[in-house]
Amino acid sequence: MNICVIGAGYVGLITALCFSKKENKVICVEKNLEKLNMLRNGTPTIFENGLNELLKESLSTNSVQFTENLEFGIRSSDIIFIAVGTPAKENWDVDIAQVEGVINQISPYIEKYKLVVTKSTVPVGTQRYIKSKLLENNVERENFDVVSNPEFLREGKAIYDFFYGDKIVIGCDSGKAEETMKKLYEPFKIKMVLTNPETAELIKYTSNALLSVKISFMNEIANLCNEVGADIDVIAYALGLDKRISPLFLRAGIGYGGSCFPKDTKALVKMSENHNCNLEILKATVNVNEKQRVLPVKILKEYYKNIEGKIVAILGLTFKPDTDDIREASSLYIIEELLKNKVNIKVYDPMVTKEIKNIFPDITYCDDMYECLAGSDAMIICTEWSEFYNIDLFKAGELMAQSVIIDGRNILDMKNIKDANINAYYSIGKGNIKN
Ligand code: UDX
Repeated sequence: MNICVIGAGYVGLITALCFSKKENKVICVEKNLEKLNMLRNGTPTIFENGLNELLKESLSTNSVQFTENLEFGIRSSDIIFIAVGTPAKENWDVDIAQVEGVINQISPYIEKYKLVVTKSTVPVGTQRYIKSKLLENNVERENFDVVSNPEFLREGKAIYDFFYGDKIVIGCDSGKAEETMKKLYEPFKIKMVLTNPETAELIKYTSNALLSVKISFMNEIANLCNEVGADIDVIAYALGLDKRISPLFLRAGIGYGGSCFPKDTKALVKMSENHNCNLEILKATVNVNEKQRVLPVKILKEYYKNIEGKIVAILGLTFKPDTDDIREASSLYIIEELLKNKVNIKVYDPMVTKEIKNIFPDITYCDDMYECLAGSDAMIICTEWSEFYNIDLFKAGELMAQSVIIDGRNILDMKNIKDANINAYYSIGKGNIKN
């Protein structure tokens, strides 16, 4: 099929390349010329597993092309995917200005039947709104259908998820659109959920919201574990054996981050309020996460009473390992809180230092974890990067001024800690040690 993907951001780029692998001709339209040049030259614009190879392969077979020419993209294609940003507004509403902009720009070029598909995460009712916009822009009714087709891609595993995901959700209100979408996704052999557009739009939000609820719930239970002497990992393991619960997304820690969960949970809370519904559980989930992500600062204050002037080493900045993404990462909130308390901060992350330097210019950036630990009064593990699992605790103890460890992702082995003779160790629901 001839496909146009508008927006070569995270979702758009993965969508364009993965469709191009399945014998489609894809034109990806991007207005950022720097990005465009990189992609045309086969240089990935984001860090993602397998992206480098996939990009080079699709370019070499001419199954994808990158252009700034929207008219060319629209006129050459039967299906148009909208994959532009839908950021959160200050009041938690979703800002769909970029989607609206795209609709206005493509309207003049829709002179024969096209399928307009939203990939961006958009509030419920957007499909209906796009239809009315296209009509308002004098696009003939028989020349378009609008479909909601949300994505469920995890960063770092996005290409795998596109090819082998658990579900494809398609929200249509026309038989013709449904047939085309079925044909497009047929080669992926993934279970399709065919429904109306409103349901499809709400599935996306509900999915991210439910996963966030699971995490916040486990985080609250973890906090209780520390009070009563229970072990959250064993609890998660036992719960996971129950097929009705599933073992995934039960890992306790210092909260969820990233580009989706924080934004989408708040958006769903706001969206429901806009419809006079009140999602109490989801509101609590958001609140729990906001407290959980700065829990290490509370622990430090309890330990030291006064943390002013202390040196704290932050290990890991990204919102999860194997990505360079720091959006909504717990580390950012912890650093902010520590700075308010006049703490001196050293950070180390195997992937990120450049972007965060603009946000926090006055903290110390280190090239390896031991350099980061040297002279510090505490370490906070914010991201479970694989190299932190093997940290030499004897060496850490020797290097640190005071070996107070806050293991925000529960990655250290309790037995090794007991042997290492450190000053204090705090986990998220696996018990604490104070020597
Ligand atoms: C998520 C969804 O998984 C994906 O389907 C959607 O399309 C986009 O949002 P992503 O943001 O890449 O993907 O990250 P994910 O791996 O889901 O983790 C999100 C956050 O939850 C991370 O901060 C992670 O540390 C945290 N998390 C995850 C936990 O704290 N505990 C868990 O058990 C799982």
